[in-house]
Amino acid sequence: MSDAPRYLITAALPYANGPLHIGHLAGCYLPADIYARFCRIKRRNIILVGGSDEHGVPITIRAMKEGKTPKEIVDYYHALLKETFEEIGISFDIYSRTSNRTNHETAQEFFLNLYNKGLFEEKVTEQYYDEEKKIFLADRYITGTCPICGYENAYGDQCERCGSSLSPEQLINPRSTLSNAVPVKKKTKHWYFPLQKFEPFLRKWILEDHKDWKNNVYGQCKSWLDNGLQSRAMTRDSNWGVKVPLPDAEGKVLYVWFDAPIGYISATKELTAEWQDYWCKDDTKLIHFIGKDNIVFHCIIFPAILKAHGGYVLPTNVPANEFLNIESSKVSTSRNWAVWVKEYMKDFPDQQDSLRYVLCANMPETKDNDFTWKDFQDRVNNELVAILGNFVNRTFILMHKLTHGKVPPLHGNVATPEDQAMVNSFAETKSRMEEFLENFKFREALTEAMNLARRGNKYLQDKEPWILAKDVDEKGNVRQESQEKIDMCIHVCLQLCANLAIMIYPFMPFTAKKMLHMMKVVNRMLFWENAGKPKLLSIGYSLRAPELLFRKIEDSEIETQLKKLEAGLEKSKTDAARAAEETAAKEPEWKPVKDTISIDDFSKIDLRTGKILSAKKVEKADKLLQLEVDLGFEKRTILSGLAEHYKPEDIVGKKVVVVANLAPRKMRGIDSNGMILMAEDHEGKLFFVASGDDDSTGSVVR
Ligand code: MF3
Ligand code: ZN
Repeated sequence: MSDAPRYLITAALPYANGPLHIGHLAGCYLPADIYARFCRIKRRNIILVGGSDEHGVPITIRAMKEGKTPKEIVDYYHALLKETFEEIGISFDIYSRTSNRTNHETAQEFFLNLYNKGLFEEKVTEQYYDEEKKIFLADRYITGTCPICGYENAYGDQCERCGSSLSPEQLINPRSTLSNAVPVKKKTKHWYFPLQKFEPFLRKWILEDHKDWKNNVYGQCKSWLDNGLQSRAMTRDSNWGVKVPLPDAEGKVLYVWFDAPIGYISATKELTAEWQDYWCKDDTKLIHFIGKDNIVFHCIIFPAILKAHGGYVLPTNVPANEFLNIESSKVSTSRNWAVWVKEYMKDFPDQQDSLRYVLCANMPETKDNDFTWKDFQDRVNNELVAILGNFVNRTFILMHKLTHGKVPPLHGNVATPEDQAMVNSFAETKSRMEEFLENFKFREALTEAMNLARRGNKYLQDKEPWILAKDVDEKGNVRQESQEKIDMCIHVCLQLCANLAIMIYPFMPFTAKKMLHMMKVVNRMLFWENAGKPKLLSIGYSLRAPELLFRKIEDSEIETQLKKLEAGLEKSKTDAARAAEETAAKEPEWKPVKDTISIDDFSKIDLRTGKILSAKKVEKADKLLQLEVDLGFEKRTILSGLAEHYKPEDIVGKKVVVVANLAPRKMRGIDSNGMILMAEDHEGKLFFVASGDDDSTGSVVR
């Protein structure tokens, strides 16, 4: 292996529990592929590493719900993902999977290394357990009644109605969402990685040494660091995953975010025996392409693990993208609001580059961006077909008509300043593109290439070689002076075609290859060092007939796609509606009266009347209002889930009934001392419970 620095490029490992949609592509796979292809044609020593992320709770639960084994689920989706990446041209040097033996061994070696250094904190905690399904329940798989607002389908981590963040212990009547069984508390031991110990190192490494990272990435890291890091459990209770390599760790596996990034290393081991040249030499450039939801794992947790282990390089850069919305709405796989790459390939066979182009032109590099089918049509028709495709096609047709199907010669002094300017712009474009590509600004790089094609069109239009061709002598031959001008023009246009093929290759590899095939120079020409050169094709070289590069998108096709999206949504709506009906069928319109309680039970509740003195919104909680309530003998701060029903200014002065002896609770950093009673109708609308006149403030309710 040469001593040139190695580029180790990774793209986030997608969970093997669903197909690939265009949001995934725009988020990290397309940028990773563009960068990798650019590096390859720069003759860099580069590998692009990927694979499926096959462990984790969502996969186990999906398997459970479908009555399959986790292995069956991941086998199916791994194959599907791998095939989809190939179809759309994501050029992984290896596409592996985290369930492979290499990854189990590598992840266990990492765990033991950290364990032997005494780094892990062992903690025994009580966690909820579903005895029917024999599985520990993550907070979000537990539902129950919210202790704050009484909503019956609150989750173990949050109540969707009042916005309070909860822990499962606080739910009244907790149930498992998997079996509806009452979860029981069970003691369980886990190994925690003390991230806080790495805080000084991370602060320096990111906040001081990596000011060059993208703003969105740097900002997120800073906010994690400023909020203080905490120990994180690196193990889970499950039978699916990498076994914890310790005695008496039966039923324990490594946390999926522990073994998944190690999957990058394992995949490299599978690719090459010289994997250490990539992972363990200081001058490697390790670049992680990811979506913004993965930032903390790739910038903080995985680097801390690598650092703790020692001997590994840390990422040089982590160019994370934001999200791509579809037709102005967030992608939602559960609502089926997504454009699936496989489906696209079925509907638009051989049009990979049209999708790649539009996704790159709209890439969410600095903010969330939108994909619309109309924009797809516009860009394909007005940019790819009308500019790039048109230029190449016209050049080739004219070359066959006017210069015998060969690269025409250049003659003495016919070059005009316009010809010269056109040729000079090759190198100018190249250097601007290079700057953008090196800095992960792919949209701008692509725009440069398209502008060059645009310029070519204008040049051809201005030169009008088809008019010059009408300047014939009595025998019908084009006069020499005009032929020389034609030759000049076609020559320049052909050289431009060759340049464009190289420049667009990282973005549109299928089209670039087609163009180079037309010029019969596929293998010789495709290097970045050739871009910008005025004489890539030799004079007299005969070229092939033009092939169709891009196809116009018809209105009807766009309508079909929009209908497809809506239909998916309708279907998921009807699914949801059906689910709602099923729930409704179980629930009578009037809530059943709860179990009878004794007068003693009731007398434990201390109800008082109060008056709202002030109200304001709680930051970052959509549903909560912070109230100051006068109970006569004292004033209380009480948080209540009213924000979606009342404006703060409208409820000041209202009389309320307050549960005065409810244990205080902290929500969003604010202590809530009590609860106000509200009446809720069938639609979930809230009403104040009337409580007498002004003089009643502070009275006991009985
Ligand atoms: N599967 C994760 C996701 O889709 C990404 C894993 S990236 C890795 O969000 F580094 F952990 F592999
Ligand atoms: Zn609630």
